[in-house]
Amino acid sequence: MSTMDKKVLRAGFIGSGFAARFHYAALQHVFSTKVEIAGVYSVATEEAKQFAAERGLKVYDSLDELIDDSDVLHVCTPPVTHEPLVVAVLKKNKNVIVEKPFTGYFGDGSEEFNGETFPREKGLEVTIESCKRMLQAEAESEGRILYAENWIYAPAVQKEREIIEKTKAQVLWIHGEQSHSGSHSLAYGQWRFSGGGSLIGKGCHPLSAAIYFKHTEGRARNGEPIRPVSVSARTHALTRMPSFEDKGFLKTHYKDVEDFAIVHIVFEDGTIADLIANELSLGGTNNWIRVNANNHRTLCNMSHNDSMQTYTPDGDIYRDVYIVEKTETQEGWSEISPDEGWFLGYQHELDAFYKAVVTGGHIESNSKLASDTVATIYAAYVSAANNGVEQKIENL
Ligand SMILES: NC(=O)c1ccc[n+]([C@@H]2O[C@H](COP(=O)([O-])OP(=O)(O)OC[C@H]3O[C@@H](n4cnc5c(N)ncnc54)[C@H](O)[C@@H]3O)[C@@H](O)[C@H]2O)c1
Repeated sequence: MSTMDKKVLRAGFIGSGFAARFHYAALQHVFSTKVEIAGVYSVATEEAKQFAAERGLKVYDSLDELIDDSDVLHVCTPPVTHEPLVVAVLKKNKNVIVEKPFTGYFGDGSEEFNGETFPREKGLEVTIESCKRMLQAEAESEGRILYAENWIYAPAVQKEREIIEKTKAQVLWIHGEQSHSGSHSLAYGQWRFSGGGSLIGKGCHPLSAAIYFKHTEGRARNGEPIRPVSVSARTHALTRMPSFEDKGFLKTHYKDVEDFAIVHIVFEDGTIADLIANELSLGGTNNWIRVNANNHRTLCNMSHNDSMQTYTPDGDIYRDVYIVEKTETQEGWSEISPDEGWFLGYQHELDAFYKAVVTGGHIESNSKLASDTVATIYAAYVSAANNGVEQKIENL
């Protein structure tokens, strides 16, 4: 297809915060089709105006009008809003890119809601119902759900997909982690906004990638994805322990969520995954996943790799240089990332999404992966409430 023949798709942004900014940046790398931006709609009207002014975009004061004027909507809003927005877009037969986590349980709507004391079975039940409504809306729509799990499109993860597919590998044990020194967002750390702590906020990334590898293996070997069937989990809130000694390096603003989670997943073929998420890790974000198969072993390092290293004796010299996400100091040796968005898959993700919309082709990070991930997370919360007792994962 020559550049002139490329179909033009119109993008609409819902939300104008952090995720909207990196979606906009990644859109500049979409080359499979031409993208025009219809504009932005956000409840934070002043923020939306600034977001739009800096990028020469139109601000919509009606969500319906933005959806009508767009082919692909980017849901870049807090998790609690994902279900109603995704359903609204699908009802109008448009495609919808939704940020992680897909959906969840956000309490009873009251400001006093305490994420520590509600029955975890309730969270699981509400989340499953929410997933079902979203999947039903997709089934009835001409539009599709594109689940914005960037890890799926990280070049290292896509290369491993190729290895699993071409070698018909049997994946036996996966382990992975996302962690850092804590989120900057003050909304994060309150269950009623985020639907949980480290397990959902960070654990969703390695968890999706692990499930994706098993889905991929199943499709390659038997034509059907291999699903997760049970999970055992522990969660802890270490920075909220009375005995925690705060030296000022870790974030400590979490109100009613965990800052550490570990999950052990069993898949329907008896194979396993162990995944860790936490807010307790100094020295930059950890993004890694490892695959132990019957014919190979792969280490995917989306951060902390040695593609580039730099040294300065005085951190102040690098005050205007972006080094890598969440390191506390620029001084000494740094594993500087020459293109962090590339390693983490943001631009590949959007190009793949727009390509899938134009061609109607397979979506690697689809609603099945999104719902399997979030069903596993809330089953893990039930297990954690029972100190790690194995919990069944519902097949949606
Ligand atoms: N994939 C990743 O690496 C990654 C990184 C950060 C955030 N996220 C996800 O992105 C989403 C947004 O997070 P963020 O950090 O951008 O939050 P943010 O607070 O920076 O921005 C949220 C935006 O949503 C708008 N908004 C809220 N409710 C709305 C509604 N009902 N209708 C329209 N607009 C509404 C707000 O006005 C704001 O502009 C979350 O789901 C988060 O988990 C993903």
